[in-house]
Amino acid sequence: MFPNKFGRIMLGLYSRRSASVCGVVQSTVGQSGFCWTSMCKHRSQWLQRRCAGEQTQRHCRSSTRLVHQSTVDPEELKRFQSLASKWWDEDGEFKALHAMNDLRVPFIRDNLLNVHKANHPGRPLAGLRLLDVGCGGGLLTEPLGRLGASVLGIDPVEDSIGTAQLHSSYDPDLSERVSYRACALEELCADGAGGETAREAGSFDAVVASEVVEHLADLETFAFCCRQVLKPGGSLFITTINKTNLSYVLAIVVAEQLLSIVPSGTHDWEKFISPVDLERHLESNGFSVQSVQGMLYNPASGAWSVTNSTAINYALHAVKVAEDPQCDPQQDHSEGSHYT
Ligand SMILES: C[S@@+](CC[C@H](N)C(=O)[O-])C[C@H]1O[C@@H](n2cnc3c(N)ncnc32)[C@H](O)[C@@H]1O
Repeated sequence: MFPNKFGRIMLGLYSRRSASVCGVVQSTVGQSGFCWTSMCKHRSQWLQRRCAGEQTQRHCRSSTRLVHQSTVDPEELKRFQSLASKWWDEDGEFKALHAMNDLRVPFIRDNLLNVHKANHPGRPLAGLRLLDVGCGGGLLTEPLGRLGASVLGIDPVEDSIGTAQLHSSYDPDLSERVSYRACALEELCADGAGGETAREAGSFDAVVASEVVEHLADLETFAFCCRQVLKPGGSLFITTINKTNLSYVLAIVVAEQLLSIVPSGTHDWEKFISPVDLERHLESNGFSVQSVQGMLYNPASGAWSVTNSTAINYALHAVKVAEDPQCDPQQDHSEGSHYT
């Protein structure tokens, strides 16, 4: 299987989309980190205004859609189950995820601060409620909690949630802001599953799914549920891996097979997704993509850096738009989809 696939890649037989993100704002990159364009800021403000009236808008078919599909791929859960005690080994299997915090935490923080003004010195995300989907051992959940946000981390692997709970219990400061639940996203948004579910609908300021979508069984259900649990104008943050020849060679051949940076079999190239395809999924589920940022891992230094190329890893920020796309076929896409 592997040599065949590798051979086909080398012969260029896999179709590949352009790595650049058509119709999506590329942020400018500062020397020391992220620097978001004023266009991004204006866009966020425009969306805030547009979304402000959503609560009073009519409900329609898709907002009451029942969730029948599961996002869970049992094979993926087996893999993560076997790694559930390893999350906090900074030199172990999740080393690259630990290092990724240097980029993804500011990406999330700065985009949220473009929308929500901070009035809490030292706790810029205070007052915001975040959902970390596929939180694993809480590597990203904890730093977001330390920024002041109230964060719920969910993961279908119970032992990973156990690891996350144990680790956060070492920091008493986190206990009032970070909590965990062993479940999949659809359990928070499915209709008729009880009062707890109902309380989560429309209750989050942001959903974070970092290095998760490439492990899901059903991206449509994921996008639908993200929209359901978000407040109007809420943010969705995704980091994932592009579906390119280069990502196959680097993320699977080099990272898994040659350097063992991540355990062999962690990734299935077929489940990788280009920014363009991800944007299409999200827009058809009522999101507007605000920015996409390329990220690059250097195995020698163990550090991530921002890059203009999204050919391998990328981070994406989208916002829940006011109208449900299936409610209003006349929806004005001129401002919402293409704003280069
Ligand atoms: C590569 S890890 C990322 C963990 C964490 N987001 C981080 O970056 O530190 C992928 C995580 O997604 C979880 N996962 C897999 N399928 C899932 C699903 N259907 N819903 C939620 N999480 C899922 C796995 O259990 C695993 O913890």
